Amino acid sequence: MSRSEEMMNQEIRSQAEERGRQKNGDGLFEETKQFEELMMMYDCAIRQVQTKLEILDEEFSVRYRRNPISSIESRVKTPMSIYRKLKKRGQEISVKSIVRNLNDVAGVRVICNFIDDIYDIARMLGRQDDLKVISIKDYIRNPKENGYRSYHMIVEIPVYFSRTTRYMRVEIQIRTIAMNFWASLEHQIRYKKTLPGDVDLNAISSELRECADTIAETDRRMLDIKNRLAKYEDMEED
Ligand code: GTP
Ligand code: MG
Repeated sequence: MSRSEEMMNQEIRSQAEERGRQKNGDGLFEETKQFEELMMMYDCAIRQVQTKLEILDEEFSVRYRRNPISSIESRVKTPMSIYRKLKKRGQEISVKSIVRNLNDVAGVRVICNFIDDIYDIARMLGRQDDLKVISIKDYIRNPKENGYRSYHMIVEIPVYFSRTTRYMRVEIQIRTIAMNFWASLEHQIRYKKTLPGDVDLNAISSELRECADTIAETDRRMLDIKNRLAKYEDMEED
């Protein structure tokens, strides 16, 4: 091979490499753009679910003079948390894989005052034509071994964008204030990074379990008191 042929080959090779780099770079750019759009879509789905809940609460407050919902919290899963979950399950790290494999990128937590509010809200949501219930886990009727209680729904709702309609999945967790109080502490303890050796985790777990049962009992009694008083009319408020 002559020197000029060699130089030409070298040139062709480096051009091809450059194209490869650009292509990979563009691929990453394209994927990043799609990821950003997907997160925006999940955020919109959350807002729609949130509005549905606020409407139900509003109607309740006018019709029955009380609010079944105490508060609503929502979040879109962070990119790091999405990455970790896919990685842990050995699933592909891509925008397609997120849509296919994860049901909890969009999460809404509904905190209710009483246990029966939870079932009312779940039933009223389930009846809505544009909302499809994909799955339900009732950890209130069937509490987890550790004492966790909450009502979980995975739903799919259409979100209308300028050029497409996307059916987005949202995880809805419905629980009482007391259940939420318990779950927050249990979550904090579970993710404690550094605990000294003399902390007896078994003892803490069984104490938490007892608290969960006490809380469940209190929730039932509070509901019972409310129901016993429901037939009497309210006094005019100041
Ligand atoms: P992931 O736990 O998200 O992988 O989902 P899963 O398929 O196990 O679904 P599940 O409905 O059991 O749990 C979904 C979510 O509920 C979790 O991500 C937590 O936010 C919450 N959750 C479930 N179990 C517990 C628990 O024991 N303690 C607390 N604090 N939260 C829980
Ligand atoms: Mg989750």
